[in-house]
Amino acid sequence: MAKTEDEAPVTVPEASSTRTVEDRIEELRRRKAALLDDHRKEAVRRQHERGKLTARERIDLLLDRGSFVETDPLVVHRSHDFGMERNRPPGDGVVTGYGTIDGRRVFVSSQDFTVIGGSLGEVHAQKICKVMDLATSTGAPFIAINDSGGARIQEGAASLAGYGHIFERNVRASGVVPQISVIMGPCAGGAVYSPAVTDFTFMVRETSHMFITGPEVIKAVTGEEVSFEELGGAMTHASKSGVASFVAQDEEECLAMVRHLLSFLPSNNLEDPPAFAPVDDPERRDEGLTHIVPDSAREPYDMHEVIRRVVDDGEFFEVFPFWAMNIVIGFARLDGRSVGVVANQPKVLAGTLDIDSSEKASRFVRFCDAFNLPLVTFVDVPGFLPGTAQEYGGIIRHGAKLLFAFAEATVPRLTVITRKAYGGAYLVMNSKHLRADVSFAWPTAEIAVMGPDAAVNVVFRKEIEKAEDPAARRAELIDEYERKFANPYVAAERGYVDDVIEPAETRPRLVRALRVLSTKRETVPARKHGNIPL
Ligand code: HXC
Repeated sequence: MAKTEDEAPVTVPEASSTRTVEDRIEELRRRKAALLDDHRKEAVRRQHERGKLTARERIDLLLDRGSFVETDPLVVHRSHDFGMERNRPPGDGVVTGYGTIDGRRVFVSSQDFTVIGGSLGEVHAQKICKVMDLATSTGAPFIAINDSGGARIQEGAASLAGYGHIFERNVRASGVVPQISVIMGPCAGGAVYSPAVTDFTFMVRETSHMFITGPEVIKAVTGEEVSFEELGGAMTHASKSGVASFVAQDEEECLAMVRHLLSFLPSNNLEDPPAFAPVDDPERRDEGLTHIVPDSAREPYDMHEVIRRVVDDGEFFEVFPFWAMNIVIGFARLDGRSVGVVANQPKVLAGTLDIDSSEKASRFVRFCDAFNLPLVTFVDVPGFLPGTAQEYGGIIRHGAKLLFAFAEATVPRLTVITRKAYGGAYLVMNSKHLRADVSFAWPTAEIAVMGPDAAVNVVFRKEIEKAEDPAARRAELIDEYERKFANPYVAAERGYVDDVIEPAETRPRLVRALRVLSTKRETVPARKHGNIPL
């Protein structure tokens, strides 16, 4: 498309010929003015037309009003190829700097698609690396807003090097400061690996897309036809691939969600998460919990309701609400303090653990452990999901991740067993045997090697076959098994759960346990790092 006058490349103004102080200040003003969006009216109009905000508008919405301090606004690229010498926009297509969210400092980069497609060249990457380094050394979260055509073609290997430097910093900062990726446009090819390393990725419906290879390449290589949205849209990554932790309807909502997420997190791994004076009574009993677990062990119920009834003000900020829904993870507060919640969901796949749910929960557990968030686990798990797809896909390896993550976590760990806690899945779900600090069971809990049906079939198959009335004998044995094993008392007698509690008293019991554990110290044997089965 032919460029309009508004779209003419923005180039750094020539230096003044006369050199009075006034001239010099005038030159600075001209250079800074060249940063402003009205020089690219047409590109900005197109950006708005697509339902997207500009890089600066996004920063304005994300940060506390007036808190933004820009870094490197005068940086320009050094490329002289493919006409780049005539197109030297100040800032080089990314706005970087720092500001505050709810009064707490954060560092940001926001790619500007209206400038060379937000493409990443050498100095564009250097600007991002500078704020990443500052975030890590000063202990503040880093938020990267991505809206970019990827590696700047005209800068070749220097662009690739730039991505490499960002990836390396992402890895170095992991577990030191929270890192958040916000995808608000294209994010393709190797560029996706920075978000993939960060702790949380936000996407916006319809306007953000992530993929390694786009629809055209896929069609050429495999013959598959797929749209941008189907391939790499927000809901695809939120429900199928597990790449997008959060999905928003539009950019405003997305940036508000980022602010909300940060309210649960500490600024770095040496700080405690922010605490608020609780409005919700810490001693509040909830009689509504009494009848949540149905009398029939086969009947599902919604674990969200259990969580909401227990946590402060019923507020639960769910992570990955659309992916691997057989496990529920997210942030909440108890007694005004942030906690990470991990809970089986009996409503989906009967709450079994499978490959995706193990991955989803284990990464979350490790995040919480890295950032000093106590873990509260609600258990109703009948076992691992059976089937060749799961076995061939490596459920053994993937399930082990969750076991590993819980076992190595040194933050306070609390468990509430609401119903089934069978076999290996019981152990994996933050059991006392993996050093959970406090474990409670409801009277409806069944802590056993397996469910009554399966157990009786294994142990008494021959006896049932020989019986005069096999069905009656089977029912008798199931009844006996339920009385002997399908309850919390066998485990409670051995101290495998600390107490059997009434469902209604779950909140006050968890709050008291958290208070006791607030000074928990745990030293682990010196080592470089463990070898989690990735
Ligand atoms: C240089 C780029 C660019 C790029 C876009 N532009 N991508 N310039 N390098 N990678 C420029 C365009 O030339 C155009 O400039 C302006 O940005 C807007 O782009 P349009 O194509 O007009 O916008 P649109 O139609 O919305 O299409 C957006 C797009 C498309 C889908 C992102 O631009 C595109 O396919 N770009 C290339 C994507 C890509 O293959 N990137 C490399 C990925 S691999 P003018 O001057 O006309 O306004 C990668 C490797 C990372 O990134 C490696 C990490 C290890």
